[in-house]
Amino acid sequence: MFITLEGIEGCGKTTQIKDLAAFFEDRGQPCVVTREPGGTDICRQIRSILLNPSSKGIVPTAELLLYMADRAQHIDRLVKPCLADNKVVLCDRYFDATVVYQGYARGIDTGFICELHRLVLADFKPDITLLLDLEPRVGLARAWQELNSGNRSDNESRFEAETISFHEKVRAGYLELARLEPERFRIIDASRDKMQVQADIRKVLTEVLD
Ligand code: TYD
Repeated sequence: MFITLEGIEGCGKTTQIKDLAAFFEDRGQPCVVTREPGGTDICRQIRSILLNPSSKGIVPTAELLLYMADRAQHIDRLVKPCLADNKVVLCDRYFDATVVYQGYARGIDTGFICELHRLVLADFKPDITLLLDLEPRVGLARAWQELNSGNRSDNESRFEAETISFHEKVRAGYLELARLEPERFRIIDASRDKMQVQADIRKVLTEVLD
């Protein structure tokens, strides 16, 4: 089973994905936690170009193609082999992030992005996508707190440095995708206490698995 977590900066995906791994391990189900960009050695090199603030001048199509390159490598070398091994794959961001960040927020045609995904990855989609929904002001404040406290490297702050209106578009884009594919998406209210969010996610997944 391929499960993805999505949401704006600071929505808590990274914390929640760790709990999800524990949830599957308790059920005796082997699982792997990974992320995009940066899920393999080659992908980590691509990640450093994408997230470093020094890449500020990157043009939107070059950015899009680097995310696609990261994904092509990651799916082929890590995700598909793990799924073939009957492992659950928990992935922090995937294709929906490209539609939302490079499409809705940067303005690249979403039809073109979907066509590229069909050509490069045969439209490979997750079984379930958890959308941790949160107001951008709250999410960004949390994300900057992490960066300023040194818990995250400021070499990776290129997206946090975008405007609020960029992040509003990201949030609205995700909600629109969830509306278009209600079977695959589950929306989780990420504004609450992390234990409550955790309980919600566990409940949703228990329903899906049972
Ligand atoms: P990361 O540090 O992993 O952020 P987060 O913890 O918020 O997921 O950085 C990933 C960044 O890359 C994030 O700001 C969203 C962006 N991104 C895209 O713009 N397009 C994509 O296809 C993906 C996967 C991520």
